[in-house]
Amino acid sequence: MWKKLMQILTKTTSIEKEADIMLDHEYDGIRELDNVLPPWWLWLFYITIFIAVVYLVRYHVIGDWSSAKEYTEEMAVAKADVDAYLKKTGGNINENTAKLMNDEKALAEGKKVFEANCASCHRSDGGGIIGPDLTDDKWIHGGDIKSVFKTIKQGVPEKGMLTWDGKISAKQIQEVASYILVKLKGTNPPTPKVYAGDPK
Ligand code: HEC
Repeated sequence: MWKKLMQILTKTTSIEKEADIMLDHEYDGIRELDNVLPPWWLWLFYITIFIAVVYLVRYHVIGDWSSAKEYTEEMAVAKADVDAYLKKTGGNINENTAKLMNDEKALAEGKKVFEANCASCHRSDGGGIIGPDLTDDKWIHGGDIKSVFKTIKQGVPEKGMLTWDGKISAKQIQEVASYILVKLKGTNPPTPKVYAGDPK
C-alpha cells in the first residue's frame, strides 16, 4: 500500500530497468538517467500556475480584489466594533463632547450614581453638606454640562471633591451630570448649604 502510493507520487524507475532510460552520452564516466519529473512535484507546479493565473486575473485584470481593499474592509469592521464598544462604555465621551442627556432612562441611571456616590457629600436632594449646593445658579467651576462633566471627572482634590475618572464610567459621569442639571437644579431644597467657596 505504502509502496504503491510512493510509486504513484514519484514514478521512479526500478534499478533493474535503469538501462532503458539511460541516455547515450557520457562525460568522464558520468552518465545520465532520463527520469520523469515526479508527479507530486509536477502537480504542485501546476497548482501554483493555476493560482498565479487566478491571482493575476483577480488582482490585475478584473481588479475586484486587492490587499488594500481587504485591509480597508477589515479596518471598517474593526472600527465598527470599537465604536460599538465605546458607545457601550461611553469611552468616547469627554469634557469636550459631553451632552446633556434629557431622557428618563439616562436620568434614572444618573440618579442611581448620585445616590450611591455623591449624596454623602452633596445630600440626596443636592442641597449640599460637605460639598456645595448643586441646585442653585452659583457654580464655582461652571454650570454648563461640559464644565460639570469636567469637575466630576477631574474632581477638585485639594477642596475635598474626589476625582471620579476611573471610578465610574464616562457614560455614568455624563448621566450624573445631566441628573444634576435637569433634575436637581432649581429645586430649592430646604436648608441648602452656604458654601464658603461659592461665588457671590
Ligand atoms: C467627599 C465628598 C464629596 C463627594 C463624595 C462628592 N463631592 Fe462633589 N464636591 C465636593 C466638594 C468639597 C466640592 C467643592 C469643590 C470646590 O470647592 O472647588 C464639590 C464640588 C462639586 C461640583 C462643582 C460645584 C460647583 O459649584 O462648581 C460638582 C458638579 C460635584 N461636586 C458633583 C459631584 C458628583 C456628581 C459626585 C458623585 C459622583 C460628587 N460630587 C461627589 C465634595 C464631594
